[in-house]
Amino acid sequence: MKIAIGSDHAGYELKEELMAHLSHRGFELVDFGTYNGDTSVDYPDYAEAVAREVSNGEFEKGILVCGTGIGVAIAANKVKGIRAANCNEVEMAVLSRRHNDANILTIGGRVVDHKDAQDIASVWLSTEFEGERHIGRIQKISDIEVSS
Ligand code: RB5
Repeated sequence: MKIAIGSDHAGYELKEELMAHLSHRGFELVDFGTYNGDTSVDYPDYAEAVAREVSNGEFEKGILVCGTGIGVAIAANKVKGIRAANCNEVEMAVLSRRHNDANILTIGGRVVDHKDAQDIASVWLSTEFEGERHIGRIQKISDIEVSS
C-alpha cells in the first residue's frame, strides 16, 4: 500500500519515526515534508499536499503529524473526499477505519507517546472499513461536501 506522509516542524520527529517503523513493515511511504524539525513551518501546507494526493487517488491513504494532530486534520478535511481522523489512541484509530472509513490518520507528535503512535499507525493501516450501515453515513458526509 502506498502512503503519503507529512508533518510540520512539531510533528517532524514522530513522522521520521513512523516512516522507519512502517517501512520496516512493508509499507511504501512517500514523504511530503517538512524535512527538518528546526524551521517553523505552516501545517496547512503539508496537510494540503498530502490530502490532495489522497483525494486524487495517487495514494490510498495518508498520515499527517503536527503538534496535536488537530490543525492538520482541520486543514486536510477541507479537501474533497478526505476523511481525516485525529487519533491519539488505538481505539480511536480502529473505529475511524471501521466506522468512518478514514483515509487520513492524524496524530499529535507533542501529545502522544511515540511508541503508542507506532501502534496507532500500524493498527489504523491494517483495519478495514466495516461497510453496511456505515456506507449511508459516509454518503451523507459526501452530500454535505457537495451542497456546501
Ligand atoms: C505548531 O506550533 C502547532 O500549532 C501545530 O503543530 C499544531 O499543533 C496545530 O494544530
